[in-house]
Amino acid sequence: MNKMTIDPAKSIPAFYAGQSILLTGPTGFLGKVFIEKILRSCPDVREVFLLMRSKTGSNINERLEKILNLPLFEKLRKERPSIFEKLIPISGDVNKKELGLSATDRQMLVERVTIIIHAAASVRFNNSLKYATFANTRATRDICILAKNMKNLIVTDWQKIIEIVETLDEHTLNIFTAKCLDYAPNTYIFSKNLAEKVIQDYSSSFPCAIVRPSIVIPTEKEPISGWLDNVYGPIGLFIGGGKGILRVACLNKTVNEDAIPVDIVIKAIIVVTWKVGLTTYDHSITDSFIQTPLVVNCTGQKYISYQDCIKMMFNIANEIPFEGTVWTPHTILTDNLVLFYILTILLHILPAILIDLILIFAGRRPMLVQLQRRVYVANRAVSCFSFHEWKYSNANRLTLTSLIPHDNLDPFSFDCSNLDIRTYCKNSAIGAKKFLLHEDMSRLDAVKAHNKR
Ligand SMILES: NC(=O)c1ccc[n+]([C@@H]2O[C@H](COP(=O)([O-])OP(=O)(O)OC[C@H]3O[C@@H](n4cnc5c(N)ncnc54)[C@H](OP(=O)(O)O)[C@@H]3O)[C@@H](O)[C@H]2O)c1
Repeated sequence: MNKMTIDPAKSIPAFYAGQSILLTGPTGFLGKVFIEKILRSCPDVREVFLLMRSKTGSNINERLEKILNLPLFEKLRKERPSIFEKLIPISGDVNKKELGLSATDRQMLVERVTIIIHAAASVRFNNSLKYATFANTRATRDICILAKNMKNLIVTDWQKIIEIVETLDEHTLNIFTAKCLDYAPNTYIFSKNLAEKVIQDYSSSFPCAIVRPSIVIPTEKEPISGWLDNVYGPIGLFIGGGKGILRVACLNKTVNEDAIPVDIVIKAIIVVTWKVGLTTYDHSITDSFIQTPLVVNCTGQKYISYQDCIKMMFNIANEIPFEGTVWTPHTILTDNLVLFYILTILLHILPAILIDLILIFAGRRPMLVQLQRRVYVANRAVSCFSFHEWKYSNANRLTLTSLIPHDNLDPFSFDCSNLDIRTYCKNSAIGAKKFLLHEDMSRLDAVKAHNKR
């Protein structure tokens, strides 16, 4: 059958054929996996504009080249190297007003883009309110303005917050931040919550959807198992614990972790966009008619408590140990804050001071106190998740899954109820060693012998 005659309602790749996508955050964890998946599974997409900024001495073309050389893209590099021509890097910075786009690029995007995937954000939990609002709330607004082709805005709460952080001085803002944090555990959640309100308000102007993943963890299997590029969440616990750096963590060990592999999240984003893109949208509807965005919680379907997870991860660490461990891998989990502070001083800070002193005397750069400071900050920043269990509605997720055309289930189903947690964690451990720490997998026996000593 001729490709062009396939009904987009019955085929996700047919829907994406000819579409021009604007992706923000292409250098991030989700962004990279999105680029790979869309090019591999929807190869007839017309083009993907990548909104990027120059960073650490690399311009946007160099950054894109580095990304395409990652192991994540190995399959595509071998099978369809020319498909990368569909990627068009565009210079921009979502923290800047109007996204830092040049007038020419902006015009090109306005004329050509048919789908926007907004994945740029600052995911740090403890950013200043100003930074978090600019990166997460105002950027979302500016993306919406771009999507709406710069029509007039309606004044609402999120707009007031943007105005406030744009105009107040740092001191007044700090006082204001404390007030905001009465409503949300940290500036990330506060600014993201407002960003959702921005989307809600703009959903009367164009079709929108919000995909809300829980903690995003390494790939389950696509295009390879265990791929990752950051140390957030359980992976941070595992690497820190496995190297003997994280010897105490403050959390409720009976709480079940909610985490979701990144390739599953990307499939959900692709399917949600397909569904929203197919929905007939009537631009003549008056402003008073509020279309609501489709909201899909993308959460795990298999749960494991922190305690059981740590036990299993240390068991895996015996099989696949890390290089350069500073102590026998073991992490004490406690929800008692006083005990946590005492153990942090005894097990983290004092040994770190000692090792840093040895490093200084050996003429090397001290680093452990600094590292332990970051571990402490991260540990406290995630307490709203590590102390409380969250329940998410999965009604929209189930409905969407049931709508995926039968032929497309294999490449696009984001059901992960069959995930085998141990196999997944083992692959993630291998992935952490290979892709993140760049350790040599052929040295496992030598590392085991070292750790035994
Ligand atoms: N990872 C998770 O566990 C998780 C969970 C729930 C929701 N999410 C959401 O998923 C989305 C993607 O997260 P992620 O894990 O992929 O985050 P990430 O790895 O930290 O990537 C963030 C991306 O945003 C870009 N970005 C940040 N500030 C920018 C700026 N001023 N201008 C241009 N680009 C900027 C970064 O570009 P640079 O490389 O230039 O910094 C990077 O490409 C975010 O909306 C996040 O809130 C993530």
